[in-house]
Amino acid sequence: MGKKIFSGVQPTGNLHLGNYLGAIKNFVELNNDKHNHCIFCVVDLHAITTKQDPKELRNNIRETLASFLASGINPKRSIIFNQSRVSAHSEAAWILSCTARTGWLSRMTQFKEKAGKDKEKASVGLYSYPVLMAADILLYDSTHVPVGDDQKQHLELCRDIAQRFNSDFEVEDFFKVPEPIIQKEFSRIMSLKDGTKKMSKSELSDLSRINLTDDADQIINKIKKAKTDSFPMPSSKEELKDRPEAKNLMGIYSNLINSTLEKTIIDFSGKNFSEFKNSLSQVLVEKIVPISEEIKKLLTEKNYLDKILQDGHEKANEIASEKVKKIHEIVGF
Ligand code: AMP
Ligand code: TRP
Repeated sequence: MGKKIFSGVQPTGNLHLGNYLGAIKNFVELNNDKHNHCIFCVVDLHAITTKQDPKELRNNIRETLASFLASGINPKRSIIFNQSRVSAHSEAAWILSCTARTGWLSRMTQFKEKAGKDKEKASVGLYSYPVLMAADILLYDSTHVPVGDDQKQHLELCRDIAQRFNSDFEVEDFFKVPEPIIQKEFSRIMSLKDGTKKMSKSELSDLSRINLTDDADQIINKIKKAKTDSFPMPSSKEELKDRPEAKNLMGIYSNLINSTLEKTIIDFSGKNFSEFKNSLSQVLVEKIVPISEEIKKLLTEKNYLDKILQDGHEKANEIASEKVKKIHEIVGF
């Protein structure tokens, strides 16, 4: 039996190597398996939990779709749509927010990180964000959700919401309890400037990340400037323990060539760091530049992109509105 896959990416600006290695690469593999049913969502409702410029948001929605396609997601074998066009998401999120407990939400570490020191100024949406994410997943009876490591806690919350709803309303199995798919190794790609911080779209310095739209010169320059330490290449995993930057770069390399950290350590042991950086730049350029060029090309084909979102919207709407109808019956509307 194939899996029912669902995942989402926020259209909040350039997608980067963390998104690609942590999530999108997995989407492509799952999408390549003909047994799976895949739904990929551009989660624009999630994007507005922090301030967005409306004009940029509209462009970013297309750019996120273009990044999916350029990375290898096949629109003929998946449903791709943007969340705001399927009103069932907002509706189900409200109903599920009456199942979720405030105690569960208050434990979410991402909210604490994103809200920063002044939590009172964070939007209510940023706080209830994981409930909307649960709605996204549960509306499609998804069985598997590929995400980066940072979404693990949100997925556990989604499982709690599903189980609680099923038991509160005595509807065993109504919501499927989904399994996360998280890469075992290198599930968290770190900033090129600080190996203890996640690579992210919101980091001020562009030198901290490789964007999927970077060209060869930008990639080579960023790897050249990436922070390292003054030690030689390690000869064991132990030696990487207190070297977050070296570990991150070696993890990125291993992930890109579908190898393991152990093998990368053996291959580069005794060499100097600049030699490793050259090899890393080379594999990055080979992998990212074709994606970057394809994104740029696709962005000139707005009608094509909009047609994919329109088709995806129709298919997603059919599934999600059926599920919402059943939810209405269950809760007594
Ligand atoms: P976002 O851009 O926050 O919507 O994230 C889209 C997907 O990329 C999610 O599955 C995240 O878990 C994943 N992701 C984002 N940043 C990273 C990172 N630095 N390392 C690994 N995965 C990431
Ligand atoms: N919260 C996820 C992130 O920031 C994006 C997301 C929204 C998502 N809805 C989802 C991921 C449903 C998986 C499934 O990365």
